[in-house]
Amino acid sequence: MGDMVGISAGVAQSKYIALENVLNKMVSNFRNYFRLFQEIKSQVRTKIKVRWLKIFYQIDVGKGTIIRELKYVNTDYGAIRIWQNCVINALALAGPIEIGRNTLVNLYSDISGRDYKVTIGNDVLIAPRVSIMASMHNYRMKSNLIRLQGTTGGDVVIGNDVWIGTNAVILPGIHIGSGAVIGANAVVNHDVPEYAIAVGVPAKVVGYRE
Ligand SMILES: CC(C)(COP(=O)(O)OP(=O)(O)OC[C@H]1O[C@@H](n2cnc3c(N)ncnc32)[C@H](O)[C@@H]1OP(=O)(O)O)[C@@H](O)C(=O)NCCC(=O)NCCS
Repeated sequence: MGDMVGISAGVAQSKYIALENVLNKMVSNFRNYFRLFQEIKSQVRTKIKVRWLKIFYQIDVGKGTIIRELKYVNTDYGAIRIWQNCVINALALAGPIEIGRNTLVNLYSDISGRDYKVTIGNDVLIAPRVSIMASMHNYRMKSNLIRLQGTTGGDVVIGNDVWIGTNAVILPGIHIGSGAVIGANAVVNHDVPEYAIAVGVPAKVVGYRE
């Protein structure tokens, strides 16, 4: 009798394990299909976004470039050209802007040319929430409202293989040499030489890449 109970308990347990395996497989298949669906959805969304940006803003987007996020676009002041294989997750782009190949612009970053041009090289990494601006307000005359004093500025040029840390601010007219690294939270108000590591407010060169 004891053996019978033992055998039927064993059979029930193995049936339970088989059922658990089937369920686990179903869940994992479902997860895989869901991931695939999400991937396809994101690629279609990206393609539609790029097409839409090309048509409505005449943005020139190179092959293989992905624009996942872009909340605000302005080409009234100048064209936006993005070369091949970039990933753009930016908050805002205001032309004139030219971005080279294999460059990443991460979430909530804001690049603004307006009266001057922002040129960014190849293989540049721009972390989240970076601001790069080529113009600013004139403000000297206290007799006049700042908003009525016009703007000033200068072209911003960022070389190849530059890494800009999160929250950094690059001010008008700044040139950042190829290979440079800009620390998180830096405010860059002087040119940065090639391969320099610049940190702080205002940004100072603290070393060079070897
Ligand atoms: C600039 C950076 C790359 C340097 O990293 P590191 O080579 O490990 O340098 P260390 O941490 O040894 O710092 C060297 C010196 O610079 C200072 N420093 C480093 N980063 C700094 C920053 N962002 N702001 C101010 N000072 C900074 C350090 O305090 C240290 O000074 P000390 O020698 O007087 O103590 C790094 O600190 C940084 O800011 N990275 C950005 C990270 C980021 O934004 N990631 C987003 C995802 S892409």
